[in-house]
Amino acid sequence: MSEVSGNPGQMITDPAGVVIDGLHKSFGDVEVLKGIDMTVSPGQVVCLIGASGSGKSTLLRCVNRLEDPDAGRITVGQFEATHEDVNLDAMRRQIGMVFQQFNLFPHLSVLENCTITPRRVLKHSKDAAEEEALHHLELVGLKHLADRRPAQLSGGQQQRVAIARALTMQPSLMLFDEPTSALDPETVGEVLSIMRDLARAGMTMLVVTHEMGFAREVADRVVFLDNGLVVEEGPAHQVIGAPTQPRTQDFLRRVLNPLGE
Ligand SMILES: Nc1ncnc2c1ncn2[C@@H]1O[C@H](COP(=O)(O)OP(=O)(O)OP(=O)(O)O)[C@@H](O)[C@H]1O
Ligand SMILES: [Mg+2]
Repeated sequence: MSEVSGNPGQMITDPAGVVIDGLHKSFGDVEVLKGIDMTVSPGQVVCLIGASGSGKSTLLRCVNRLEDPDAGRITVGQFEATHEDVNLDAMRRQIGMVFQQFNLFPHLSVLENCTITPRRVLKHSKDAAEEEALHHLELVGLKHLADRRPAQLSGGQQQRVAIARALTMQPSLMLFDEPTSALDPETVGEVLSIMRDLARAGMTMLVVTHEMGFAREVADRVVFLDNGLVVEEGPAHQVIGAPTQPRTQDFLRRVLNPLGE
């Protein structure tokens, strides 16, 4: 954690809000999302929790239209994501996404991973893109590893590169899909602390996570999804600390005490 030298969110100027209204999504005959209503206000952090298969990733992927919803309306900032005429490229430029498996390009250096999209999509010059990338790598404490390949980094370091890479596009919204689930326990904290800094800097964040400590400390609201529906939502201390719905209580009991003792 001592490597982390700055606040990765210091560039945030214009966080976007997300409004999800009546979202339905099926795969074949299976309805995975059954009418989701949810709001993330600009600058808010919402943690999405729920059992495996409850539809968390599908919901996240609908927000940046990696999946096409069957019904419902989603807006991201000024973009109506579900409108047939939406400029998807422009909308996606505003949305950073961080996955469980990092998804770095293995054949590129850390620095190249962070410059390739600004150069190709934003048409930044090599020098400008490198300066920007090194700035973000410094903020996540990894400037000194800019020349390495991803395979030469720990999982936690790779995930910090993935966050820096997303930030080089100056997003207005960050989506995180279980960003620490694939990490060794000792590197989870370094990633969560960067996410906490980003939240404090005012980034809008929608985070799928099983890290209840993080959710309690950082989330403005926690949403519990079960079987494609929002079963319970509210402030973190309420949903995690004193859930009212039996399904939330049962889920949290299993997450917090996996051996059931
Ligand atoms: N592309 C797809 N084609 C068919 N079924 C899918 C597809 N993507 C997801 N599903 C199904 O939709 C359901 C919800 O999946 P999703 O990945 O959204 O769940 P999740 O809550 O993210 O689970 P996990 O915690 O395991 O990541 C699952 O039953 C899954 O098998
Ligand atoms: Mg998932």
